[in-house]
Amino acid sequence: MKKNKKPGFSTLAVHAGEARKKYADSVTTPIVQTSTYVFHDAKDIKDYTSGKKYRYEYLRYGNPTVDVAEKKLAALDGAEAALLFASGMNAITTTLLCFLKTGDHVVFTSDVYKKTLQFIKDDLKRFGIESTMVAPTADEITAAIRPETALIFTESPTNPYMFVVDLKKLVKAAKKAGIPVIIDSTFATPYNQRPLEFGVDLVIHSATKYLAGHNDVLGGVVLGSAENIAKIKAFLKTLGGNIDPHAAYLIIRGLKTFALRIRHQNDSALKIAKWLVKHPKIDKVWHPGLPDHPSYKIAKEQMDGLSGCFAFELKGNLRNTQTFLRNLKLILMGPSLGGTESLISHPATITYYDMTRKQRYALGVRDTLCRLAVGVEDADDIIADLEQALATVKLK
Ligand SMILES: Cc1ncc(COP(=O)(O)O)c(C=O)c1O
Repeated sequence: MKKNKKPGFSTLAVHAGEARKKYADSVTTPIVQTSTYVFHDAKDIKDYTSGKKYRYEYLRYGNPTVDVAEKKLAALDGAEAALLFASGMNAITTTLLCFLKTGDHVVFTSDVYKKTLQFIKDDLKRFGIESTMVAPTADEITAAIRPETALIFTESPTNPYMFVVDLKKLVKAAKKAGIPVIIDSTFATPYNQRPLEFGVDLVIHSATKYLAGHNDVLGGVVLGSAENIAKIKAFLKTLGGNIDPHAAYLIIRGLKTFALRIRHQNDSALKIAKWLVKHPKIDKVWHPGLPDHPSYKIAKEQMDGLSGCFAFELKGNLRNTQTFLRNLKLILMGPSLGGTESLISHPATITYYDMTRKQRYALGVRDTLCRLAVGVEDADDIIADLEQALATVKLK
């Protein structure tokens, strides 16, 4: 390897964070599945508590398998440090609670994950923290800043319409106002977008999705400066939303094929989106790689790749959409994204089942909206499945 040359993305995904010599000369990182660690001498305790010697004490405070996963994730996002959680929601809630206090105000964007919206809008309100929800654009976010605004939270790309926020513009305005910016970058992954390079303060991913990548584990990660991550880690030790070592191992394992998966999913998603655009029973396709998407230009400038996920709307009504979904034979109907199996979600009846149509339409979630999370199957097989299911839809 040439000296001083930064390893490529796939090399980092396989090797970053891992010791060259591991327990029992294992190739893979061992799972240290223990809730507590033994002190062999009273002196060990003194050295540990005085900070003279780094070691493990108790799982809620740290674990070597989790440390490897965190170092790998930090390398991929170009962060000083990373911190894993039991789920993406745990990463979001712990981080927001860590930096907010009663009387603060949060600016956040519409088209975010439903539980994030609920937490910021309703749960934070119970603690005297107000929020303003705006459209996901740098201008709308900046215009909503108040003197008591303590942080800005947005997804980019957003869920499910794939709006991309101009990070350079947003960070410039936020820095001027002295307000930290937190981005949920789950849909993009560090392969397609590294918000820390734009000066964003903290990046969050639901590791459940593309990072672990196999629809088999929950996890969340927050990435940023060593100082910020240490602050959140201290709070995590109290709140206790730690990831289990076995789940951390599954994330390490999933990350080994990360770059291969994402490249394939990016390419397939765009190919399928372009095919859907031409289909007579499709009303609209929301993919930022299509020139008519409102974020086409900024996505091209800001992102290295786009995503394996996008949304589309059928012509017709709820019944037509349900007929289409029922007749899919390869694509599975389910609410997640980023895994090896293609999953299709119907936000109106899966994610927002508890809202009235009026409430859903206020959020832009129409009856005919579907979100397709493309897996690693062959794109042509996914297209064939969409084609046969669309053929069963009878429009008036
Ligand atoms: C964009 C986004 N962020 C966060 C989450 C929450 O992640 P988790 O399910 O790992 O708690 C999700 C879940 O779907 C999501 O789509």
